[in-house]
Amino acid sequence: MVIVGAQWGDEGKGKVTDLLAERADLVVRFQGGNNAGHTIVRDGEEFKLHLVPSGILHPGTMCAIGNGVVIDPKIVTDEIDALRRRGIVTGNLRISANAHLIMPYHVFLDTAGEAKLGSLSIGTTRRGIGPCYADKSSRLGIRVQDLLDEKILRKKIMAAMEPKRQLLRPHAKDPALDLHAMTEEYITYGHRLEPYIADTAHLCWDALDAGKSVLFEGAQGALLDLDHGTYPFVTSSNPIAGSACVGAGVGPRDIDDVWGITKAYSTRVGSGPFPTELEDEVGETLRERGGEVGTTTGRPRRCGWLDLVALKYAVRLNGMTGLVITKLDVLSGIDPLRIAVRYRHPEGATFEEFPYHQSVLHHIEPEYDEVPGWHEDLSGIRNEEDLPQAARDYLQYMSDFVGVPVTLVGVGPARDQVIWAGGREPDSLNPA
Ligand code: GDP
Ligand code: IMO
Ligand code: MG
Repeated sequence: MVIVGAQWGDEGKGKVTDLLAERADLVVRFQGGNNAGHTIVRDGEEFKLHLVPSGILHPGTMCAIGNGVVIDPKIVTDEIDALRRRGIVTGNLRISANAHLIMPYHVFLDTAGEAKLGSLSIGTTRRGIGPCYADKSSRLGIRVQDLLDEKILRKKIMAAMEPKRQLLRPHAKDPALDLHAMTEEYITYGHRLEPYIADTAHLCWDALDAGKSVLFEGAQGALLDLDHGTYPFVTSSNPIAGSACVGAGVGPRDIDDVWGITKAYSTRVGSGPFPTELEDEVGETLRERGGEVGTTTGRPRRCGWLDLVALKYAVRLNGMTGLVITKLDVLSGIDPLRIAVRYRHPEGATFEEFPYHQSVLHHIEPEYDEVPGWHEDLSGIRNEEDLPQAARDYLQYMSDFVGVPVTLVGVGPARDQVIWAGGREPDSLNPA
């Protein structure tokens, strides 16, 4: 099964992955890097993960960082250390030898690129994600396996830095960019990470061949997809379900279910079109009640009404089989609620489908359907039948509009604050 974000990220993928990981044998992250921030709340304790898969709190579940992820070795070692300090076993973690490494120059280039764009900046997380994926495509990337051979590592760093010399000139004296120091530092990470380095694709094949259940954990969301999102205001990888095959090394037929995670409203961090954005009190209420502050960068998230045009697009892109709706609890007290059902261009054209053209997308205005809200606190509800009728209608509206059944609903950040559709937790992730 694949877990993907169906909006602009931060939909609650971490929480859902953690919840399902109990029933999985292997959890694999397949794209993105430490631009991601996945929050898990277990017994009142909060864990914020950036690279380590959200299955790590289950000691009986293997976790892998797949080849499609870009890894900042400092961040992953720090994350492992922090987990261990909190008593979490990390011996079940594996890191793909083929995953690419974020290097200090990638971080400089990310920041410099954003500064150069000025008011047109993307609002990246400045973690070096774009430049790292660019080097991967240019075949100048440095991979996890290179950490294990100092000579090769040094040569590759030299080759990768050479074409960037001009761009890096303002930082030429920065100790972080000294070839010798960088090689030493990365070799040290190599020593630290060696026990975790593995052929993670093989790990997936073994699990799948043995009939075990594998959960593929995505980062970001469909609207941030490099090919299908709101380009150029996107991330540099493909957060959609098809990318799980590439980023983990399995075939499309190895994937049975695709669960898309969506909030009951919309948020976005960084720049770029966001048709249903609210720059008023309701937006502020959503931000406050939903705790909408970026997990990675601490930036306030932009908030808006639910956008079913965008969600329907995400459903199609991902071949979604199940819809997980999180943060339904946040909407309590907002009455009436508005749901975007089509877009209208100022020149008169209407769009039932998500427009592919950038300048159209920048100008369209959403058309809303207004539905009744509810005032009850939902955080303690665990059964569909106990939800206020308006909340049940809201879920049904979403499901009917996009044509995908709701499988799970979130009513709070904690692991147990969920409502299973049909009233029953599944025993396993494998279809019977
Ligand atoms: P991810 O990047 O998709 O894993 O999502 P984040 O962790 O960045 O952001 C989701 C935030 O919402 C986290 O702080 C979660 O603890 C929280 N959260 C997840 N599900 C729910 C829910 O159903 N209700 C509420 N109130 N909070 C939730
Ligand atoms: P999770 O996995 C929300 C956004 C950034 C920026 C754009 C490009 O927690 O959902 P990048 O640093 O990737 O080059 O930035 O993408 N972005 C995210 N927004 N959640 C994320 O991850 C994100 N990862 C990147 O804010 O707009
Ligand atoms: Mg997040």
